[in-house]
Amino acid sequence: MIIGNWKMNTSREAALALSEALVGLVETHPVSVGVCPPMIWLDLVCQHTADSGLWVGAQDVIGDPYGALTGCVNAQMVLDAGAGFALLGHSERRARFSETTESVLPAVGAMLELGLFAVVCVGENQTERESGQAFAVVESQLAPLLASGLDLSGVVIAYEPVWAIGTGLAAEPADIGVMHRWIREVMGRDETLVLYGGSVTAEMAPEIFALSEVSGALVGGASLHIETFAAIVTAWEQREWN
Ligand code: PGA
Repeated sequence: MIIGNWKMNTSREAALALSEALVGLVETHPVSVGVCPPMIWLDLVCQHTADSGLWVGAQDVIGDPYGALTGCVNAQMVLDAGAGFALLGHSERRARFSETTESVLPAVGAMLELGLFAVVCVGENQTERESGQAFAVVESQLAPLLASGLDLSGVVIAYEPVWAIGTGLAAEPADIGVMHRWIREVMGRDETLVLYGGSVTAEMAPEIFALSEVSGALVGGASLHIETFAAIVTAWEQREWN
């Protein structure tokens, strides 16, 4: 599966134009493609792409039921809008809002309860990688999921080495493969989908997708340009043929 994460980008017009282009893209590329527009355009994108086969997801969601929580959106609202999944614990939210896997667990649970899927993001920062802590950090980020008692079949993991997000730096394919294997081992489920997300570009996509451990990509910056995103989707489609 290839998911585009627009982050805090796109005007209303740009969101509509990209949605239209994505509808065309999924018509011609029969692979799973998802998009996470900014929350304010979620409903718009859902309406615009309804019945196209495109998965639409929220960039974040809160685990609480309806109630007094100014500025937040819950899983039921995401479902009502027509979205099918949400990103949770993205590194930018971990850094900016001190989110942890533990703090997003209620949101993971709320999504699963409604039959939606949750993409939980994990990944080490540069200092952690350089000091040999990458595997321990990722394991500790996965641990709360395992301890939660939730049915993890609806959980997708996105491995996003923080030092390679939005920086243009890329992890070595061999390192990506080893980490993805580690994630599945920690999860204790061979069938867990593990997406790679760290400055994925059209150029590097074929090399990353050649790794059998990679189940797809979470694409940030490159998803804002339909040609680049289409090239990444095409690279994934070719992998599925092989
Ligand atoms: P990037 O972002 O592709 O711009 O590095 C990936 C992500 O953070 O989801």
